[in-house]
Amino acid sequence: MTSPGPSNLLPVASPAPDRLDLLLETLAQNGYVCVPDFLSQDTSAALLGELHTLYEAGKAFAAGIGQGDNYRVQPTVRSDTILWLDPASLPPAQAIYWQAIEDLRLRLNRRYFLGLTDIESHFAQYPTGGFYKRHLDVFRGKSRRRISCVFYLNFPWSRADGGQLRLYLPGDQGETRVDILPLAGSLVVFDSQTIEHEVLPARRPRASLAGWMRTA
Ligand code: OGA
Ligand code: MN
Repeated sequence: MTSPGPSNLLPVASPAPDRLDLLLETLAQNGYVCVPDFLSQDTSAALLGELHTLYEAGKAFAAGIGQGDNYRVQPTVRSDTILWLDPASLPPAQAIYWQAIEDLRLRLNRRYFLGLTDIESHFAQYPTGGFYKRHLDVFRGKSRRRISCVFYLNFPWSRADGGQLRLYLPGDQGETRVDILPLAGSLVVFDSQTIEHEVLPARRPRASLAGWMRTA
C-alpha cells in the first residue's frame, strides 16, 4: 500500500477512531452510512485539483455497464466519465484518500470478519444534466464487490443543484428512499449487494470518487 508520507500542504485528517467505529455500526445496522467531513476540505480541494489535471490530460473515458466482454457504454443508463486510480503511483491527495479507505476496509474486517481483500476506485465526473439510473453495483450478482463507497468533491452544493445520490432501502414495511447531497468531504458507504441506488440528474458538473471493497 502506498503511504502519503509527510506533507505540509495536505494535513492528514482522518476521522477519530471512535467516530469511525460508530459509523461502522450504523453501516452494519442500516446497510449504509453517510459521513460528513470524512476527509478535510483541503484534501477534498486537492483531490478535485488532481481530478482536473488528469481530465485535462485527456485520460478519462465514458463509463459503461457490465464486466469484461460484456462492458458497454450506455448513455441512456449513465452519463459520467471515469478515470481509475492507479495504486502503484498515487499523487499526494489520492494517496491520502486511498489510505483512508484502506483503513476502513481493515476496520470492517476486524469487526465483522468480512474478508475484504482489496479496493478499487475511480474518479467520476457527471456533466450538467448527467445521471446514473437505478442500479446495483454488482453485475448480475457476479462480482467481488461487497462494500461501495462514494466520496464527494463538490464545493458547495445545494438541493437546487440536483445530483443527489438516491438510495433505495429494502425493509419489512416496503422500500424507503434516502437522498444524499454530493457535498465535498462527505463519504457514503453502503452494501454493494443489497442497496440499489441512482444519481439524480445534476444541474451542474458533479465530481466524486467511487470505490469498492472486494472479497477474493
Ligand atoms: C456508481 C455510483 C454514485 C454517486 O459509480 O456506481 O452509483 O453518487 N455512483 O456518484
Ligand atoms: Mn453505483
